[in-house]
Amino acid sequence: MTHRLNEKVAIITGAADGIGQAIAELFCQEGAFVCVADINETLGMQVVESLIAKGGKAIFHKTDVSDIDSVNNMVKATVESLGEPNILINNAGIIYQNDSPLNTTQAQWDKSFNVNLDGMWHCCKAVLPYMENAGKGSIVNIGSVVGSAGNAGQANYAAAKAGVIGFSKSMAREVASRGITINVVAPGFIDTDMTKALSDDQKEAIFKDIPANRLGEPDEIAATVAFLVSDGAAYITGETI
Ligand code: NAI
Repeated sequence: MTHRLNEKVAIITGAADGIGQAIAELFCQEGAFVCVADINETLGMQVVESLIAKGGKAIFHKTDVSDIDSVNNMVKATVESLGEPNILINNAGIIYQNDSPLNTTQAQWDKSFNVNLDGMWHCCKAVLPYMENAGKGSIVNIGSVVGSAGNAGQANYAAAKAGVIGFSKSMAREVASRGITINVVAPGFIDTDMTKALSDDQKEAIFKDIPANRLGEPDEIAATVAFLVSDGAAYITGETI
């Protein structure tokens, strides 16, 4: 195994479960020092214990990405324990499944944007000064295919995930001259807690549009994210995969 991320300091939000956990595991295998930043302390601590047991270097920091003070504290703790961040993966996300945007409550709408979009902005704002100082850094924002394709019942989520793409393309132009790349990985349907609620009928309907005819695995998303933060992807920015 090559260690493409040797001693790079990586912050991964929402890494206590699902896709974020898979990214944390792969990054540790690739030699990165990882901060698992998640609102779920129980699962987050378990993930970090398992990463350390396998020889990785990792910390957990209880973080609510929708709260800028919480994010600033997390970045400060990362700098103190692991070093200045070279990599940021904005993966924390939530979804409200409603039969119509009219049935979405104001609280759900606000929370969807606060976590899925503001959270990403808070984290970028907190880590970019370190990356600018270093003249180097990689950010991957996790979007979703529904951000460009739309999906019935998910207007709150699709709107926020569409915002992820516009934000990332703009930021990519702003920070490219300082050696920083920002890309989006926009998965289709991946086998995590987020898709557990899908019925067999819903899955069957979805599979018709998926060439592989199955749900994706978190590891398969992690592999793409790891490539985008590796030196081999230094000339790729503002893209969505
Ligand atoms: P998941 O529900 O398994 O994990 C999400 C993680 O985010 C959890 O550990 C949760 O505690 C954490 N989180 C939630 N709110 C938070 C907050 N305010 N602050 C910090 N952490 C918070 O979900 P999954 O499937 O792993 O999703 C990861 C990302 O991938 C999300 O951004 C999601 O929108 C995106 N995605 C997932 C797809 C899927 O089919 N599972 C498809 C497309 C995109």
